[in-house]
Amino acid sequence: MTALLSLSGVTAFYGAIQALKGVELNVNPGEIVTLIGANGAGKSTLMMTICGNPRARDGRIVYDGADITRVPTHEIMRQGIAQSPEGRRIFPRMSVYENLLMGAHGRDGGEAAETMEQVFALFPRLKERTAQRGGTLSGGEQQMLAIGRALMSRPRLLLLDEPSLGLAPLVVRQIFGAIRDLNRSTGLTVLLVEQNAFQALRLAHRGYVLVNGAITMAGAAADLLARPEIRAAYLEGGH
Ligand SMILES: Nc1ncnc2c1ncn2[C@@H]1O[C@H](COP(=O)(O)OP(=O)(O)OP(=O)(O)O)[C@@H](O)[C@H]1O
Ligand SMILES: [Mg+2]
Repeated sequence: MTALLSLSGVTAFYGAIQALKGVELNVNPGEIVTLIGANGAGKSTLMMTICGNPRARDGRIVYDGADITRVPTHEIMRQGIAQSPEGRRIFPRMSVYENLLMGAHGRDGGEAAETMEQVFALFPRLKERTAQRGGTLSGGEQQMLAIGRALMSRPRLLLLDEPSLGLAPLVVRQIFGAIRDLNRSTGLTVLLVEQNAFQALRLAHRGYVLVNGAITMAGAAADLLARPEIRAAYLEGGH
């Protein structure tokens, strides 16, 4: 199978600090792939590097058959990659409706309205709250809004950075359930960064472990879940 996204030998730096050290990673069409790793391992950097900010210094990033390593960020987004960044970054003073529309860039009104209905079907809570300001939503609702906004561009590849951060287990299940439904019903391809390794590996088809900016393990999610070294490092107390 030809990968939808493939990274080979990717490095990234913040000034003199090297955050990614030759990352090799593939995401196939229709897959949910999770990237797990400790705080500071470089997970968010990897997501952002895919979008071109920071830029990969070495290596190659190929999306849908085209080299996007040096493509401007807005152009990468236009080609069908959407990101729900860590910390949600919704617009606090804009309404739910306006936040969603911000994600629809490049889409005409009719198409945006149709996509918004799909987002509401996925997250009915948002539909009840279209006029509410983003900043006054609960944490879980803000996360739904951040994911919904990313979906408004009708991406082929959705990058999700820590969607479960700070949320109660019930809300985490709702959000992970929505991701699974979307993947099954539309074939949406997802790259998911998570601290919650247990939940992420149960949701994903495959997983990668990032340690100190380099991939140290990769495999079927079920296999990773069963490995003692994964259990010891990432799953203790993780249920
Ligand atoms: N803008 C920045 N400037 C300088 N260093 C940075 C910057 N962003 C991240 N770093 C550093 O790069 C390394 C990787 O950070 P990154 O945010 O990618 O980790 P992470 O795996 O997402 O961690 P977490 O699980 O805590 O979100 C860390 O050492 C971090 O301090
Ligand atoms: Mg992070």
